[in-house]
Amino acid sequence: MPVLAVVANSTWGWQGVLVSSPYPPESDIGEVLLSAEDIQRRVAELGAEITKDFADTTPMLIGVLKGSVIFIADLMRAIAGPVEVDFMAVSSYGDATESSGVVRIVKDLDSSIAGRDVILVEDIIDSGLTMAYLVDYLTGQGPKSLRTCSMLVREGRTAPGVSLDYVGFELPPAFVIGYGLDVGQRYRNLPFIATYSPSDEGSAPGSGSTSE
Ligand code: PRP
Repeated sequence: MPVLAVVANSTWGWQGVLVSSPYPPESDIGEVLLSAEDIQRRVAELGAEITKDFADTTPMLIGVLKGSVIFIADLMRAIAGPVEVDFMAVSSYGDATESSGVVRIVKDLDSSIAGRDVILVEDIIDSGLTMAYLVDYLTGQGPKSLRTCSMLVREGRTAPGVSLDYVGFELPPAFVIGYGLDVGQRYRNLPFIATYSPSDEGSAPGSGSTSE
């Protein structure tokens, strides 16, 4: 039977939320860099901006699995107008902790983007190599327009040759978890973004997440 706990730390924005045992032990969660409220406020701003920019058209949001799932789900609901959504999956890290720069498409789009207004949605731009590859790939599919949107961009980083059109926050160089960002596929469901601070150093991340 899951153990339930009430998280009372107001910084986390989880007051009154019951947390079952599959969630990480609290000791693995370090400093909360962006609270759930910070994130939701910014998502609402981005949604309003996109609503205005695409008032006369139906943009197609393309999420990059898996990290962008949480963000794109919130973002599309913050857009006050018709949107469509599709997903791609790429493999760029494997077991490595830094991108090799070689991106392999694991799941392609379900439908054509030719002539469409497209927004490529990421959770994080770290080295920028994934975004740069995907922009190049999608440009080749003949969209009417292509913009980029990332919840997080690593401070001082860009995606080579890519215009970053909608950005949530700049992120300092720390290994972070939550709001889509994982360690070993866990922690994506945290509603905030925090540094990862494992109580057992031996259980350090093995996922090759880009969030470091
Ligand atoms: C992350 C993230 C981006 C990419 C960014 O995905 O979601 O797709 O890495 O890194 P870059 O800017 O250095 O190329 P990851 O490979 O960790 O997979 P995930 O989304 O399934 O967690």
